[in-house]
Amino acid sequence: MKYADKTIEAKDGREIIISEAKPSDAEEILGYMDIVGAETDNLFVEEGTKSFTVEGERGFLENNANDEESLMLVAKLGDEIVSLGNISLVTKRPRGRHRASFGITVQKKAWGLGIGKAMILELSGFAKRIGVEIIELEVKTDNERAIGLYEHLGFEIMATHKNYFKINGEYADAYIMQKYI
Ligand SMILES: CC(C)(COP(=O)(O)OP(=O)(O)OC[C@H]1O[C@@H](n2cnc3c(N)ncnc32)[C@H](O)[C@@H]1OP(=O)(O)O)[C@@H](O)C(=O)NCCC(=O)NCCS
Repeated sequence: MKYADKTIEAKDGREIIISEAKPSDAEEILGYMDIVGAETDNLFVEEGTKSFTVEGERGFLENNANDEESLMLVAKLGDEIVSLGNISLVTKRPRGRHRASFGITVQKKAWGLGIGKAMILELSGFAKRIGVEIIELEVKTDNERAIGLYEHLGFEIMATHKNYFKINGEYADAYIMQKYI
C-alpha cells in the first residue's frame, strides 16, 4: 500500500480523514472538481469538468493506483470530499527523477482549517519516501493565499512563467515554486 489513511484534527476540531483516491471515487471526484472549478480562477480546472467521463476518470485513478511513484489523496469531512491533492514524478527518466510536481485544492467552505497544509505535508512525505529531492508547483502570481501557504511551508519562488494561463482570453502569469525536501 502506498499510503495508509490518516486522521487529522481540523482547526475547528472536526475530524478530517485523508486517504488515497480509489477508482470507485471517480464520480465524486468529478463532482468535487466541478465545485472547486467554479469557486476559483486559480486552476486549469473550470466549471464544466463534467466533460470528463466517469469511465475516463476511473481509468486515470486506476493508472494512478498502479503507479508506485504517483499519489492522489482525498480529504473527507464526514462523507464529503473537501480536498484533492496529487503528486507525481516530473519524469521517470533518471535525469529528472529527483523532482516531483504537485497540485492541491480545498473546497472554499473548508478553507482556513489547516487541510491544505496537512495535504501538502502528506504528499511531501510520500515524495520523500520514494526518493524525491525537490517538489515543485506552478501558482498564479495573484493567488496570494496559496503563495502564502507555500512560503509558510518553505517553498521559494524560482521563476515566473509568463502567460501560463489564458482565462477567458486574458493571459495570466504563474510562479514556479520549489522546495527541497
Ligand atoms: C490555497 C489553498 C489550497 C489553501 O488551503 P487551506 O486549507 O485554506 O490552507 P490552510 O488552512 O491549510 O492554511 C495553512 C497555513 O497557511 C497559512 N496561510 C494561509 N494563508 C496565508 C497567507 N496569505 N500568508 C501567509 N500564510 C498563510 C496559514 O496561517 C496556515 O498556517 P498555520 O496552520 O501554520 O497557521 C486553498 O485556499 C485552495 O484550494 N484554493 C483554491 C485552489 C487553489 O488556489 N489551489 C492552489 C493552486 S496552485
